[in-house]
Amino acid sequence: MADSKTFTLTNDATGESFKFPVIEGSYGPDVIDMRKLYESTNMFSYDPSFTSTASCPSAITFIDGEKGQLMHRGYSIEDLAGKSSFIEVAYLLLYGDLPSEKQLKEFSHNITYHTMVHEQLQFFFRGFRRDAHPMAIMCGVVGALSAFYHDSLDIHDLAQREISAHRLIAKLPTLAAMTYKYSIGQPFVYPRNDLSYAENFLHMTFAVPAEPYKVNPVVAKAMDRIFILHADHEQNASTSTVRQSGSSMANPFACIAAGIASLWGASHGGANQEVLEMLAEIGHKDRIPEFLARAKDKNDPFRLMGFGHRVYKNHDPRAAVLKESCHEVLEDLGIEDPLLELAMELEKIALQDEYFVSRKLFPNVDFYSGIILKAIGFPTSMFTVLFALARTTGWVSQWKEMVEDPGMRICRPRQLYTGAEPRPYVALDKRGASTERKASKSAA
Ligand code: ACO
Repeated sequence: MADSKTFTLTNDATGESFKFPVIEGSYGPDVIDMRKLYESTNMFSYDPSFTSTASCPSAITFIDGEKGQLMHRGYSIEDLAGKSSFIEVAYLLLYGDLPSEKQLKEFSHNITYHTMVHEQLQFFFRGFRRDAHPMAIMCGVVGALSAFYHDSLDIHDLAQREISAHRLIAKLPTLAAMTYKYSIGQPFVYPRNDLSYAENFLHMTFAVPAEPYKVNPVVAKAMDRIFILHADHEQNASTSTVRQSGSSMANPFACIAAGIASLWGASHGGANQEVLEMLAEIGHKDRIPEFLARAKDKNDPFRLMGFGHRVYKNHDPRAAVLKESCHEVLEDLGIEDPLLELAMELEKIALQDEYFVSRKLFPNVDFYSGIILKAIGFPTSMFTVLFALARTTGWVSQWKEMVEDPGMRICRPRQLYTGAEPRPYVALDKRGASTERKASKSAA
């Protein structure tokens, strides 16, 4: 990173000028180094939802939202989704390069041999209601991993960081499958070491002890591709949550549980569940105009789920790959899903609508993933769990990169204070009706 360029800010009120270094990245936009802003100007920068803030250096993922470009370690997502397996992509994210054959064999072996979870963890599941949302269970059981793997909690020890990263990538499919089994009242299915990552997950999810289960290769390929497409996405809300949590030196299991909590929200990973619910609510293409009108109405909280993205303002490259997979899976399984037709019609109409065109709102990764997952047999409530499973690889890689950065410090943002100015304390017997009115007004 070169830093010979500078950027000058002028305070119009005083005429004072302040120079800040400009840091060049290896590709994409430069950043203005504002670390000395407060010290120099006595003012903070204000960017509450981080639309213009680079929160960290990272060499893992690059996104150009205008071009609709996504790369991991320099490789395009289209190449990775078309040519690599998820386990290769996990290695790439964690270690920076695609693995050699020997490295891939070793890494796959390590992940495979960490897929079992401590037997005691099963008892945690019994504490949850059967109808609990699977993401609620995931927040709990993933956080609980830190109570089982005391030998890998020291974040300053390279070997411990390594093993906890492998444990998380390996155990998430097992926990996700257990969550599903618990919700439908079936026995947990143990992992099998002769299966690939995606095959093993399908086996643990759909097999029952009463009969053999054969993994459909088309479904396994689509599952693997879905995992690749969700593996990492730069500094999104959940990844930033993982980094923020980890910056205080919290253990990686706790940090990933925090990421899962953030991912659950409807504006983020929760959207894939909401897309299917929305399509079911629309029901028929004749009703599309009614729902588009609702999406455009500022007095109606309804949004077209699976549309729009904070960063992509052209197209979401993951959505294009998934649309292709969606047709492949439905064709192979012989499923004619009216929701797919409805989704394609909705996409076509919205992409011609001035409201969506002018705001650069396109289908995002969640728009088609739900239809594939439904075809494979997952209930909608499991969709975000699958996202969390895949994203764990990205979270762990980002966490590791941060902890291994010698410049790591605790993340501690400041604020624009909008509260009361200093005022004298009022004793209880002196607080009158005017204080009560103010209090109830601000609570409203
Ligand atoms: N439907 C209708 N209008 C929308 C939508 C939508 N899905 N998304 C954005 N808009 C409108 C906003 O109302 C706003 O309009 P305005 O300029 O007239 O006020 C404009 O487009 C810009 O939207 P913002 O909310 O400012 O964009 P932001 O970057 O904050 O939000 C987000 C991005 C959260 C993804 C948003 O587009 C959204 O809510 N989409 C639906 C939920 C969704 O699919 N989330 C998944 C995201 S991808 C992922 O996390 C994997």
